[in-house]
Formats: sequence, C-alpha cells, structure tokens
Amino acid sequence: MTSTTIAELPWWDLAEVADHDAAIFGPTAWTLGYYWSVKAQNGTVMLAARTASAGDPNADSAAGDEVVTASAGELTGWIVMSGAGAEADVMTIATTEAARGKGIGRTLLQAGIDWAKDRGAEVVHLEVDERNAAALAMYAAFGFEEWGRRPDYYPGAAGILMRLRIGG
Ligand SMILES: CC(C)(COP(=O)(O)OP(=O)(O)OC[C@H]1O[C@@H](n2cnc3c(N)ncnc32)[C@H](O)[C@@H]1OP(=O)(O)O)[C@@H](O)C(=O)NCCC(=O)NCCS
Repeated sequence: MTSTTIAELPWWDLAEVADHDAAIFGPTAWTLGYYWSVKAQNGTVMLAARTASAGDPNADSAAGDEVVTASAGELTGWIVMSGAGAEADVMTIATTEAARGKGIGRTLLQAGIDWAKDRGAEVVHLEVDERNAAALAMYAAFGFEEWGRRPDYYPGAAGILMRLRIGG
C-alpha cells in the first residue's frame, strides 16, 4: 500500500519536474532554467508529492516543520508558491497524469495554503485558464473566488484571476 509524502523539492529533482512540466503544459511549460531562477528567489517554496510506502514515518507529512528532504518514491505532483507580506500566489501546480483523481492536487494545494498561512499571508492568488475544468473545480472547492479576467491571456482563452482569503 502506498500513501503520499509532501516534501520540499530539492534542486536535484528540478530536471525531473521540468520534464513532467513540459509533458503537461506543452508550450507554456516552465523551462528547467526558469525552475532554477524561481527556486533561487526569496519568498518561494516548491513542494513535491511522492509515493511513500505505508509505515514510512514521513508519510502524510505537511508543509512546515514536518517537511522532509528525501526524494525517494515516484513523483506524483508539485506546487510552487510565492509570498510577500499579506499576499501569496500559487505560481504553478500539477499532478502527473497517472496520479490524477486521487486527492494529490488537493493535498498539494492545502500544503501550499498552509505554507502561506505560516508566513502570515492573508490572501492567496492564482490564475487559471478558463477551459481548465478540473482546476477550476478544485479551486472552487477550496473557496477561491473569481475577481477578474485577462482576455486572451492564453492562446484563444481568458485567464481567470482567483483569490482565497485565509486570514486578516
Ligand atoms: C488540476 C489538477 C492539479 C488536479 O489534480 P488531481 O490530483 O487530479 O486532483 P484531486 O484528485 O486532488 O481532486 C481535487 C478536486 O479537483 C477537482 N477535480 C479533479 N479532477 C477533476 C476532473 N477531471 N473534473 C472535474 N473536477 C476535477 C474536484 O473538485 C476534486 O475534488 P473531489 O475529488 O472532491 O471532487 C490536475 O488535473 C492537473 O495537474 N492538471 C494539469 C495541470 C493544471 O492544469 N494545473 C493547474 C494550472 S492553474
């Protein structure tokens, strides 16, 4: 039996994540170089989900003090957050295709929100393609609300700007 471990993404796993990112996001994917530059910025965190064997003491750990640093197990998803003052952003989030529909996206988003809360953010922002039904449903389930749109932000589609109040 396997469960999910959420851990900070170490630099040596960035190439693996960038490969998955290219397969998922195609022309709008982040390059490996961009992952490196975001990782080097202050006020960002990258969390990865990996399969973990039952009985692993690190299984089901959350962001924060319990984050582990090992990168064993199969990569199933990741989230990148940034934060400054009262504002935080979901910069990117994805679950690998084989791992979808198993609660990993939800676990990652919750870990990202917890990270933002821990550093005193009061609102979390994100942007999503209006055609992305799965992501829109997930964000709505967390209570994110649309507050604006960027027409044609994506090729042939608008970007929906969403936010979630988490404090203040
Ligand atoms: C969006 C994404 C991260 C969801 O990850 P996931 O691990 O499959 O999601 P979960 O299994 O945790 O599901 C969480 C919620 O998302 C929604 N959801 C997930 N898949 C869905 C689907 N195919 N259709 C509709 N809603 C869906 C549901 O609200 C679900 O909650 P529920 O199970 O209680 O109904 C995943 O589909 C993905 O990586 N997509 C490609 C990358 C992407 O679009 N990222 C977002 C960019 S803004």
